[in-house]
Amino acid sequence: MCRLSIAALWMTTFVVCALAQSEPSEMPSRALLSAPIVGHVTATTAMVWTASQEDPGGLRLQYRVKGEADATASHASVIVNVADHAWVVFTATGLEPGTTYLYRVRWTDEAADPFPDEEIDPWQAPSSDGRSGEFTTAPPSGQAGRFTVAVSSCMHYGKEPEQLSWRLMRSQQPSLHLLLGDIVYADTTDRNALWEHHLKQRAVVDFANLLRTTPTYAMWDDHDYGPNNSDGTAAGKEDSLRAFGEVWALPPLGTTDTPGVFYRFQWGDVEFFMLDGRYHRSPDKAPNDDAKRMLGDEQFAWLVEGLKQSTATFKVLASGSTLQASGADGWRLYDFARNRLYGAIMDNAIDGVMYLSGDVHASYIEVHETGGYPLVEVISSGIANGATHSFATLSFDTATADPTVRVRIIYGDGSVPEDRSFGLSAMSVGE
Ligand SMILES: [Fe+2]
Repeated sequence: MCRLSIAALWMTTFVVCALAQSEPSEMPSRALLSAPIVGHVTATTAMVWTASQEDPGGLRLQYRVKGEADATASHASVIVNVADHAWVVFTATGLEPGTTYLYRVRWTDEAADPFPDEEIDPWQAPSSDGRSGEFTTAPPSGQAGRFTVAVSSCMHYGKEPEQLSWRLMRSQQPSLHLLLGDIVYADTTDRNALWEHHLKQRAVVDFANLLRTTPTYAMWDDHDYGPNNSDGTAAGKEDSLRAFGEVWALPPLGTTDTPGVFYRFQWGDVEFFMLDGRYHRSPDKAPNDDAKRMLGDEQFAWLVEGLKQSTATFKVLASGSTLQASGADGWRLYDFARNRLYGAIMDNAIDGVMYLSGDVHASYIEVHETGGYPLVEVISSGIANGATHSFATLSFDTATADPTVRVRIIYGDGSVPEDRSFGLSAMSVGE
């Protein structure tokens, strides 16, 4: 059930969508079940997600421009009905581009708020109270400039409950964060189990601190979706899709006709195409012939059409599966699909495409021959599962004569084994 209300307030308008079931629940505490996380952010809007442990009779989101007086704060209220899984997605609208806001989640009934102001100062974002944070809105769409994207995958709270690389990632001050799968190792399509795994991962304090201060765009891989190396034949995949859409605050998923986690969004003059390599995938072990699919025909057509429409300087494709690195579960087992992808980019003269992936518990850069320009792939995997605790950053500078992206592979010990820059001029089909 989705309740939608619009409140015109001091500075702007919030659209608030609370999704929950309506049966009463007995929970021991009034604390939030999960610290807030920042999801999809544009130049003028920001989504903030949180989950509540019991019905507080309504939650509100307050925010203000960082550095401005308290009097400018705006807020919106929402009633939360709690049972099953109760979560709230606030969407702040009417924001200023490229502006940093502090926010906090409050109980509508201040007397019932378990954290009254006199006990803590939640405006000191990002404080450790677990219910405040900050976000910075995107630059105007299409505007050239500089910003950094952080990329990660593969984090295992069961094996590695202390995940210090998130702190290192935050120190790089990324404008946004792409989470490319194996976020949890649930290995199931059971909705309740998936919820439980995601909440446990969010209880990792450094992960939570990143997510409540950095717009995060998630994509699943096999362990978030179903069994190891699972594909479109996974039983119960509709339940996985439902859970994933519930636990994140993402742009609209899939299309009207085609389900899946795939979606696109833009930051300045860079466009991101998040690709679902699971829901429509042929089995890894299927014959490597022209019938074998990675994205499915509908998602592939959506991607090609999106690339042809895009006016962005760089177009970033992101998926859990590597183009070549994995011999067990990647595109190298899908010759037809991979050749069709390369062909679509080059035959349609789509300049400035690069590819991001995860999965293999190591991080490095590969450059692939495509029949057109070399395709740069940045593999970022194992931030909290494996030896290196590594991640990648992409720093775009599109305001120069030859727009560039600087790619750095960063290990958990602070070392930087790869630091390479790629110019748009080398990512061009030419005349
Ligand atoms: Fe993994």
